[in-house]
Amino acid sequence: RILILDFGSQVTQLIARRVRESGVYCEIWPFTADAERIRAFAPRGIILSGGPASVLSPDAPRIPEVVFDMAIPVLGICYGQQAMCLQLGGQVESSDHREFGRAFVDILEDCALFRGAWARGGREQVWMSHGDRVTELPPGFRIVAVSEGAPFAVIADEGRRLYGVQFHPEVVHTPHGAALLRNFTHNVAGCTGTWTMAGFRDMEIARIREQVGSGRVICGLSGGVDSSVAAVLIHEAIGDQLTCIFVDHGMLRAGEAEEVVETFRGRFNIQLVHRDASDLFLNALDGVTDPEIKRKTIGRLFVEVFEEEAVKLGGAQFLAQGTLYPDVIESVSFTGGPSVTIKSHHNVGGLPERMNMQLVEPLRELFKDEVRELGRELDIPETIVGRHPFPGPGLAIRIPGNITREKLDLLRRVDSVFLEEIRAAGLYDAIWQAFAVLLPVRTVGVMGDGRTYDQACALRAVTSTDGMTADVYPFDMGFLNRVASRIVNEVRGINRVTYDITSKPPGTIEWE
Ligand code: XMP
Repeated sequence: RILILDFGSQVTQLIARRVRESGVYCEIWPFTADAERIRAFAPRGIILSGGPASVLSPDAPRIPEVVFDMAIPVLGICYGQQAMCLQLGGQVESSDHREFGRAFVDILEDCALFRGAWARGGREQVWMSHGDRVTELPPGFRIVAVSEGAPFAVIADEGRRLYGVQFHPEVVHTPHGAALLRNFTHNVAGCTGTWTMAGFRDMEIARIREQVGSGRVICGLSGGVDSSVAAVLIHEAIGDQLTCIFVDHGMLRAGEAEEVVETFRGRFNIQLVHRDASDLFLNALDGVTDPEIKRKTIGRLFVEVFEEEAVKLGGAQFLAQGTLYPDVIESVSFTGGPSVTIKSHHNVGGLPERMNMQLVEPLRELFKDEVRELGRELDIPETIVGRHPFPGPGLAIRIPGNITREKLDLLRRVDSVFLEEIRAAGLYDAIWQAFAVLLPVRTVGVMGDGRTYDQACALRAVTSTDGMTADVYPFDMGFLNRVASRIVNEVRGINRVTYDITSKPPGTIEWE
């Protein structure tokens, strides 16, 4: 396996993605990780990430000495390269020729990193982003590729198996970057590339059994990808020692609650408590229009109801959660300042402490699409595994203003038509998230010979890789016309359809 030491680059996670895609297990740790912990992890190679700091500043992050003491292969990327050079006796200067974005490197010599991908004498496109640059190599290193702004674009000390690249091989803008990383992990560090989802599944099942023993586990199930995969995996490991609790807050989409119950009880034979708490939630939300109060009310009630059901079951020592890797990476932050709460996201945080339970988090080493792959490995239906994300507070945050059963019903029908058309057009998988929003506005229309005065709705569809930023999905006009016409004709009470063309930022994906 490979260890990635993080110096705070925005794209460190992509290094991990590329390494895992090549069948090699890896983890990301902060550069401050303890030397003993690094030794104990016993990596076959270490990758040093990029980072926003300047190696020339007095308090610049340093590479732990243990990295070089272990005499294993090391690849430094951008900041990692510069820090390596400086610490091994080379020189780095801040450059007046800053390079950002696309650049070209000329390959001067053969190098183990280039095997099968880059040829001597060739020119390759790469993605650069740096201000400082190496000006003098440490003893033992040679230059193997250059660029206009970075005469030391790729350097190597093949005796000690130390490599440095000034550009970012992990991003797609470096077309052969993945091959370079693969050469490092496979050819230089000697990893075999046998890490697979089936292997992960077996390892994780063994781990769950060991952690839980004969104890009992409860798991909050929402019908979303993460909690579904976690539940099925844990069920494979410990069978009926697991009970799932599905808190139905009454703000799910059409047919969703039935599908969850049918899938988990019917198909997987998992013990499932289905608590229909819609009255409780809708009563508490009566008259609430402020988005943050909606979110907090739903979050609080969710925890209360979940806890009530857990107490009824009695005696569980473990709480399962579908926490993913991006949530647990110990992030390196150089900005320090407090971040602003844009929205208070809904989860069951705080429960394990309150209930004195231990956590079981079998997905905490996986990225979202790896979770999907694991779900397929576990035979979870594609309708769940490939499903768009759906927020914890549900349709509540897609109805600006106060929420009523009638409005929920109207929104469900609009949403169903939109998604039906998206599926029929074969667009579902190309879209990160698509949904309808019920607007708190009535507008005038004409249908047949009559005047209408009904509600307006908005459609939203975005592409994204992680929900942090998003682009509007560019439907063709014919598609939008078809959807709009179906909605107005089939959903009584809606007479106007708009398409939200705001990207994120400045908009957020949800309306509240
Ligand atoms: P925003 O609206 O913040 O959404 O751009 C980003 C992603 O997060 C989802 N989302 C939530 N998910 N609980 C969740 O589990 C929440 O409270 C919540 N709010 C937003 C949203 O659907 C999108 O995928």
